[in-house]
Amino acid sequence: MDQDIILKAENIKKHFTGTYALKGVTVTLKKGEIHALVGENGAGKSTLMNIISGVFSADEGTISLGGKKVHFRNPNDAQMSGIGFVHQELALCQDLSVGNNIFIGHLPTNKGMIDNERLYSETRKILDQFGDSGKGIHPTAMVSTLSVAQQQMVEIAKALSSDCKVLIFDEPTSSLNEEEAKSLFEVIHELAGRGIGIFYISHKMDEIFNICNSITIMRDGSVIETAAVKDTNAEYVVSNMVGKELGNLYPEKSISRGKEVLKVEGLTRAPYFENVSFSTYQGEILGLCGLVGAGRTEIARAICGIDKRQAGEIYLQGQKIRISNCRDAASHGICYLTEDRKKDGLFLEMSLIENMIAPQIRAFEEHGFVSVKKAEETTKQYKGILNVKYSSASQNIGSLSGGNQQKLMLAKLLAMKPKILFLDEPTRGIDVGAKAEIHQLLRRLSDEGISVVVISSEMPETVGICDRVVVVNAGRVVGELSGQELTQSRIVSVISEFSERIVSSLV
Ligand SMILES: Nc1ncnc2c1ncn2[C@@H]1O[C@H](COP(=O)(O)OP(=O)(O)OP(=O)(O)O)[C@@H](O)[C@H]1O
Ligand SMILES: [Mg+2]
Repeated sequence: MDQDIILKAENIKKHFTGTYALKGVTVTLKKGEIHALVGENGAGKSTLMNIISGVFSADEGTISLGGKKVHFRNPNDAQMSGIGFVHQELALCQDLSVGNNIFIGHLPTNKGMIDNERLYSETRKILDQFGDSGKGIHPTAMVSTLSVAQQQMVEIAKALSSDCKVLIFDEPTSSLNEEEAKSLFEVIHELAGRGIGIFYISHKMDEIFNICNSITIMRDGSVIETAAVKDTNAEYVVSNMVGKELGNLYPEKSISRGKEVLKVEGLTRAPYFENVSFSTYQGEILGLCGLVGAGRTEIARAICGIDKRQAGEIYLQGQKIRISNCRDAASHGICYLTEDRKKDGLFLEMSLIENMIAPQIRAFEEHGFVSVKKAEETTKQYKGILNVKYSSASQNIGSLSGGNQQKLMLAKLLAMKPKILFLDEPTRGIDVGAKAEIHQLLRRLSDEGISVVVISSEMPETVGICDRVVVVNAGRVVGELSGQELTQSRIVSVISEFSERIVSSLV
């Protein structure tokens, strides 16, 4: 056996009711290797990693670690053997401390009692390995008080608390800002440098080509190819993932815009944003852009009645409207797609149909009863439009792949027949091919007269699909760009000009 191979999963098969998630997959991981796993939504990436890390058991196939066959009964078993997992949907106990989460399953004890002193000092030691990223995390803090980036560090720390040989990252940067992602990459490189083998799942090609050394392409539950990153390129990888060449990724921009639809004036919710004014127009996709934390989400949430505002007026087609809660907003056709599908986007324990019905029970009523048939038809209709992969509409949303959950959340919103759509990170976790389809769909919706407002942390996406952007920084509108001026570098310079003005006014 190649001495460098630490893990080999061979001929892994897994069947769920109605789906063959894995049809005989073989992958190997070497010491210190950062191995990318790519494929369309539902290709089987998370399932494979869930099997390697003891979350699911395989129907067939073998896993060897350090040359020895292993059988994990649960994730704790896998962790004790040296396999750690930073999940796509973070999986920490929110109401336990950082230390308790890291050592759960192997808490240090003294005379049969939990040794808290050792627990927290050991936790500190592990967190200190992450330099600045670990410094801000207090061992006794409740996990629920941490940012997503910090929670990820805790998941990594958890893996390192036992002798970690393999570490799995499932779309780790989907909720991180650029700065946080950079720190994460440093930590990953450092861990690989120690000889830990890393599986890295992502839909972001630039990331993969920056940090990974090898890549496995999956499609429909099978491995298409494994290659060294240096011997391949993004175009080749994407066409193998999707099974066809992908043309131009972004739809045509709109040539002209129609009447003003929504106007907000002097919107304020301290300390998040102040005196925000802008309008949307028919046939135009508007972007609210800025750095993560600039206040874009808060502005959208206030317009959609989710959060209260302290001041400001909202006009729809020139008429002042009252929005004090989401129901008011929905009655005017104003809807919001959340950036956090796990927390407030979907009921993961409920079926696709129930999720579809939840926001508008009335719309599915017939003779005073909810018509399941009607809900099934609507779900099926959007399955077609958004190409959602599921085996049955009565299956739990939680059993859908991450990207398909995202598509269903969008479907649920579109079924409400909105007039104005605020979409916060609409393509989070969506594969490259499906992303292009969603961009086309947004253009179609806009052509049909729906006002589409997009918030995206991916600058190329913002520039690619929006006709006009309103630039937000530190809770204020600091500029507006459209046409030829709408480029990444112009956005960055508008943001930095504003920051310099602020700094010089303080001096
Ligand atoms: N617990 C489960 N019950 C039923 N089906 C499941 C379950 N987990 C996964 N599946 C199905 O297995 C298939 C593969 O899903 P998986 O989550 O592995 O995809 P993925 O490659 O990680 O996709 P994504 O990029 O969207 O995260 C999908 O069809 C999914 O619906
Ligand atoms: Mg997944």
